[in-house]
Amino acid sequence: MGAKLKIGVFGGYRGQTMIDVLLDHPDAELAAVCDKYTPLLSQVREKAEKHGLNVACYESFDEFIKHDMDAVVLANYATEHAVYAVKCLYAGKHVLSEVLPCETVAQAVELIEAVEKTGLVYAYAENYCYMLHTFEMWQRYKKGDIGTVTYGEGEYIHDCAGIWPQITYGERDHWRNNLYCNYYCTHSVGPLLAMTGLRPVTVTGFECPPPEEMKRLGAYFGAGIEMVKLENGAVLKSIHGHLKREPGSINYELYGTKGMMETGRQEVNKPLYVYRESDKLCVGEWEDYVPELKIEGGLAKNFAGHGGSDFYPTHFFIQKILGRPEGNEWSIDVYSAVSMGLCGIFAYRSVLDGGKPIQIPDLRDPAVREAYRHDNKCTNKKVAKDGELLPKTSYGEVDIPDEVYEHVRQLWIDGKPGE
Ligand SMILES: NC(=O)c1ccc[n+]([C@@H]2O[C@H](COP(=O)([O-])OP(=O)(O)OC[C@H]3O[C@@H](n4cnc5c(N)ncnc54)[C@H](O)[C@@H]3O)[C@@H](O)[C@H]2O)c1
Repeated sequence: MGAKLKIGVFGGYRGQTMIDVLLDHPDAELAAVCDKYTPLLSQVREKAEKHGLNVACYESFDEFIKHDMDAVVLANYATEHAVYAVKCLYAGKHVLSEVLPCETVAQAVELIEAVEKTGLVYAYAENYCYMLHTFEMWQRYKKGDIGTVTYGEGEYIHDCAGIWPQITYGERDHWRNNLYCNYYCTHSVGPLLAMTGLRPVTVTGFECPPPEEMKRLGAYFGAGIEMVKLENGAVLKSIHGHLKREPGSINYELYGTKGMMETGRQEVNKPLYVYRESDKLCVGEWEDYVPELKIEGGLAKNFAGHGGSDFYPTHFFIQKILGRPEGNEWSIDVYSAVSMGLCGIFAYRSVLDGGKPIQIPDLRDPAVREAYRHDNKCTNKKVAKDGELLPKTSYGEVDIPDEVYEHVRQLWIDGKPGE
C-alpha cells in the first residue's frame, strides 16, 4: 500500500483510546491532536515520542483543522459532535465520531447532508457494537442463525456518582451536567440496531426517579428507558443510566423467529448463550462459549478496553476510507448513527408528553428532512431557540447553587471521588 493515512484526534481524554490505536496501526498514523486542556497534550507528546513520532499539538480547533491530515477523530464533548463533524467534512476530512452523533434533530439533518454533499466517510464510534459478545451476536444474526428479530433488550447501567468530579471537573456547563435521561442511549440501543440492520420507527420513553445524591454533584436526571418499535414490528427495550449496582451491567438479548442469543450481565469472559430451535417446535439446542476475536484478532487483542471493543471503530473507519470490504461491512454509517441517536431524542419528547409513542423520522428521505431542519429542541440553552428549551428532568427541575460546582471542582483537584 501507499503512505499511511494521516489522522488527527480532537479531544484528548477519551481520545487517548483512538490515539493508542493510531500509534499502533499499520495503515494510519497519528498526525495531530487538539485539546484546550494542555496537560493532556503533554501526555500525548510523551507517548508519541516513545513511538518515535513528533505529533503536532493544538489548543485551538481552528488551527488544528488546518493541519495536513486526511481524517479527524472527534472525541470532544458528546453534545458537540455534529457541529464539529460538519466543520471537518467541509474542510475535506473524513470523520470518526465518538458517541453521541448529534444534540438536536436539526443537527442530524445538517450532518447527513454534509456527508452526502462531500462524499467523505463518516463513521460512528459506538464501540459497544464491537464488544466480544455483541460483535459475535451481530455476525451470527447476519448469518441468519436466529431468524428475524422479534424482541431485544440492551442494558448499560453505570452509576457514575463516584467518578462525577473526575468526569465533569466541577463545570456547571459540562455536557454531563446538562444531560437528560434518554440522551445517552446508543450504548444500549445501538448494538441491537446494528445487529438487526432495521430502522427504528417509533419510540416510547420513560424516566426513572433521579438519584437525590446527584444534586450534590451538579446534575439531576434519572435513568432512561426507550421502548422502540422497528420497521418489521419487532420491539426493543433499551435502558441506561445511573441505577444502583456495582459493578455496572452491560447486557444484550436478541430473540428471533428461530432462536435467541444473550450475553451474561457484565462479568468478563462469561459465555455467550445461543439457542436455536430445531425442525420441531420448542425443541432446540443451546450453545455457550466465549467468543474469539475473528477480525484482525492479533491487533485487536492489544486493546482490551470496553469488553475488547476499543480497537474496531477506528480500524473499520480506516478500512472504509481505504475502500476495503470489511470497512464497508462493519463501519457504522451516518444514517445508522443518527437512527441510534434519535431513539433517545424522541424518547424524551415521549417522556415529556406523558409516555405517548412518538414517530422517529426517516432522515434518509430528503422530503422528510424539511420538517426537522429547524428543530433545535434540547436541554442546552446555548443551542435551543425561543420556546425550544426542554427541562432536564420530568421530575421537576432543581436549581443547583454555584457552591456545589465549586465543591465538585475541589474534589476533582484533590483527586477525590464523588461524595
Ligand atoms: N465510547 C465510550 O465507551 C466512551 C467512554 C467515555 C467517553 N466517551 C465519549 O467521549 C467523548 C469525550 O468524553 P470524555 O470522557 O473524554 O470527557 P469530556 O467530554 O469532558 O472531554 C472532552 C475533551 O475534549 C476537549 N475539548 C472539548 N471541546 C474542545 C474545544 N472546542 N477545543 C479544544 N478542546 C476541546 C476537552 O478539553 C476535554 O479534554 C464524549 O463524546 C463521550 O461520550 C465514550
